[in-house]
Amino acid sequence: MNIHLANEIATLRLGEQIAQLCPPQQFTIHLEGELGAGKTTLTRGFLHQLGHQGNVKSPTYTLVERYDLSDRTVFHFDLYRLTDPEELDFLGLDDYLSQNSICLIEWASQGGEYLPQPDISITLSYQNNGRQAIISALSNEGKQLCEQLHK
Ligand SMILES: Nc1ncnc2c1ncn2[C@@H]1O[C@H](COP(=O)(O)OP(=O)(O)OP(=O)(O)O)[C@@H](O)[C@H]1O
Ligand SMILES: [Mg+2]
Repeated sequence: MNIHLANEIATLRLGEQIAQLCPPQQFTIHLEGELGAGKTTLTRGFLHQLGHQGNVKSPTYTLVERYDLSDRTVFHFDLYRLTDPEELDFLGLDDYLSQNSICLIEWASQGGEYLPQPDISITLSYQNNGRQAIISALSNEGKQLCEQLHK
């Protein structure tokens, strides 16, 4: 699925919509795209929709930020500075993925084979003055979410 995002608000909205459609079980979203493509902006919309009111800063050095929200726990990863995918072992990734959480992973490609297959993958790129989002579904739950998003 291919969506044009004319401005920052549109990126926030897409994050909100996806948050509304996330199924109740463990769900993982990979966010790809070059520096400044809008990955954190989408995550901000996502977290605000689920009730987070404060800032959303990129966990560039800590690699992961945890948000305990009223309904869900969300983990926001930024793997830009991961030098070796093995570091993910030290983070205890399995724990994150086994508690009905939602994981949003910026620069997921840096994690290589250490990351499990996501439910959806979103690739953001520059398009005119805005951005383009290409969303791929990689699980049945991800497919259902994309069908709902399409409506
Ligand atoms: N659809 C859009 N049109 C124009 N600007 C946008 C759009 N979406 C987000 N932006 C702007 O792009 C800038 C960078 O966004 P953001 O920090 O979300 O990128 P990022 O992909 O997380 O970058 P990084 O890889 O450095 O973490 C922000 O100033 C944001 O307002
Ligand atoms: Mg970012």
